[in-house]
Amino acid sequence: MKHLLLKNISDVYGQPKGAHSIFIRDGVIQAIAPFAEIERTCGPALKEPCGVLDCSRLTAVPGFVDGHTHLLFAGSREDEFYLRASGEDYLSVLNKGGGLHQTVNAVRRASGEELLRNGLAWLDLAFGFGTTTIEIKSGYGLDLETERKMLKILKRMDETHPVDVVPTFLVHAVPKDMGRRKYLDLVENAMIPEFREYASWFDLFLEKDVFDLPEAERLLRKAKDAGYKIGLHTNQVFDIKGVSLAVDMGARHVDHLEVLSPGDAALIMGTAGLYAVFLPSAEIHAFSEKTGRIDLLMEMPDRLVLSTNFNPGTSPVLSPAAVMAMAVWRYRLHDPRLMVEAFTRNPADMLFLHDRGRIETGARADLVLFALDHAAQIPYYGTICPAACVVKNGACYQIGKPHEI
Ligand code: NIG
Repeated sequence: MKHLLLKNISDVYGQPKGAHSIFIRDGVIQAIAPFAEIERTCGPALKEPCGVLDCSRLTAVPGFVDGHTHLLFAGSREDEFYLRASGEDYLSVLNKGGGLHQTVNAVRRASGEELLRNGLAWLDLAFGFGTTTIEIKSGYGLDLETERKMLKILKRMDETHPVDVVPTFLVHAVPKDMGRRKYLDLVENAMIPEFREYASWFDLFLEKDVFDLPEAERLLRKAKDAGYKIGLHTNQVFDIKGVSLAVDMGARHVDHLEVLSPGDAALIMGTAGLYAVFLPSAEIHAFSEKTGRIDLLMEMPDRLVLSTNFNPGTSPVLSPAAVMAMAVWRYRLHDPRLMVEAFTRNPADMLFLHDRGRIETGARADLVLFALDHAAQIPYYGTICPAACVVKNGACYQIGKPHEI
């Protein structure tokens, strides 16, 4: 593998002000220092085959880790978007057999090849926004065969694309063509045991009219016994007491949290190793009158995560920078550092991928270079913020050449 020198980056996230260069060897960050120092300390290695990129007008941040997405799907749901704009709420659309069931129908109809093509095209786009690791859930097949198909495609995507894919088996809803009891038995006795081969994460949509607390407990327990790590969609629309369940089950993360009591917030903060995932784009696209209660969790800044929640229903948004902008509008977050951490180091640690999400010597060389002055401009220019260049495992991918302004 060729080494890579990112020369004279004008601002490196987490480093003192001033230009720094980053020397990357075998996909790992070897040195971060002013160029003269790198020349002195890494001199002989620089003479080996080495790519050099002049980064004199670029800002570097760690590659984004998108910790909650539903990126693999077919079809689109703009009709539902406008329906919600006109006053329908997310759950009533779902209860009428629309919403995610519409995507389930499209995914069941799609061939494996078509789904793979869709997934890779979305991954290309995510990569262009600076995402270098992404969690993707199944959950649009619901039946055994289509869920299996989705999970196998996620594996193919991970093998094919530079972005690392972390697959999750998501129990998303009871399908319209099967009785509730039969479905729960199928998930418990067939899907959870079989799908452990394809996914080490398990998630469930705990929500009024979707799955209730005893059903969630039953499936989470089974998943836990089968060795999955656990995340949970909870408290998106109603306070359904999912936080206590997540804590009892040793879950790693709880996601959405638009309704959160101070008691549950204290429970999350008091539970070491439990992360809170906020999805402002989904709140906006669902026209939710509630706002994710990140304000109640500010004492655990290293366990706060922001994600795109990219999906065709509640979040047709794939850009981390745009989601950071939304976090400013929606939550009035005003610490850009917190937002960068919530899209890099925190989700990496949440997913137990401690080798990334940071620019440090010894870390995996996953970096994004933006044509910006410094990282605080990422949420500010959030809606117009494609990466100039993405480095993944030490290989450099030019996305867009910055123009002179
Ligand atoms: O995280 N809430 C459940 N799942 C997704 C939405 C999926 C869909 O509507 O297609 C979410 O918002």
